[in-house]
Amino acid sequence: MKQKWMIISGSFAVVLGISLWASAEPKSSGSAKAFKPVMKTEHLMHGQKKLMGDIKSAIGEKDWEAGQTAAWVLAELANVNHYQRDDATYHGFADTMSKQCVELAAMLSKKDEKGAKDAVNAIGKTCGACHDQFEKK
Ligand code: HEC
Repeated sequence: MKQKWMIISGSFAVVLGISLWASAEPKSSGSAKAFKPVMKTEHLMHGQKKLMGDIKSAIGEKDWEAGQTAAWVLAELANVNHYQRDDATYHGFADTMSKQCVELAAMLSKKDEKGAKDAVNAIGKTCGACHDQFEKK
């Protein structure tokens, strides 16, 4: 009888452990609600431009912490930009830009000024490439 209770309480602990572990996972992937940006593309772009400016000033001032924060926000904004159009080429540019911003954040965390400047230039090229194709003149 005692052994039976030990098995029951043992399995209860396992179940509790699994559910605690599961609840620590991010919720977004399991959510049924599709992601929908609240911003219009125009407003998102003004945000991207502002962050690029903030990043360049932060590099100039060697404020690596501020630069990293702006780089991460820009990476996420590019990730949001993916959802502004239903077009595989557009998605490609937005995803590339997001990855380049993650690389930039890594350069800034290493206080690698040259690497950070190169990453900023690479991001700038992606801005331009997407505009050439998608920004109406
Ligand atoms: C994946 C495509 C894409 C990328 C990458 C991209 N843009 Fe844009 N951008 C657009 C589109 C599309 C427009 C036209 C906006 C509209 O529809 O109003 C635009 C417009 C703009 C505008 C003009 C906004 C206005 O209408 O007043 C600015 C400024 C801008 N982008 C900045 C940037 C900067 C800075 C970057 C890079 C850090 C960037 N964009 C990267 C697609 C992109």
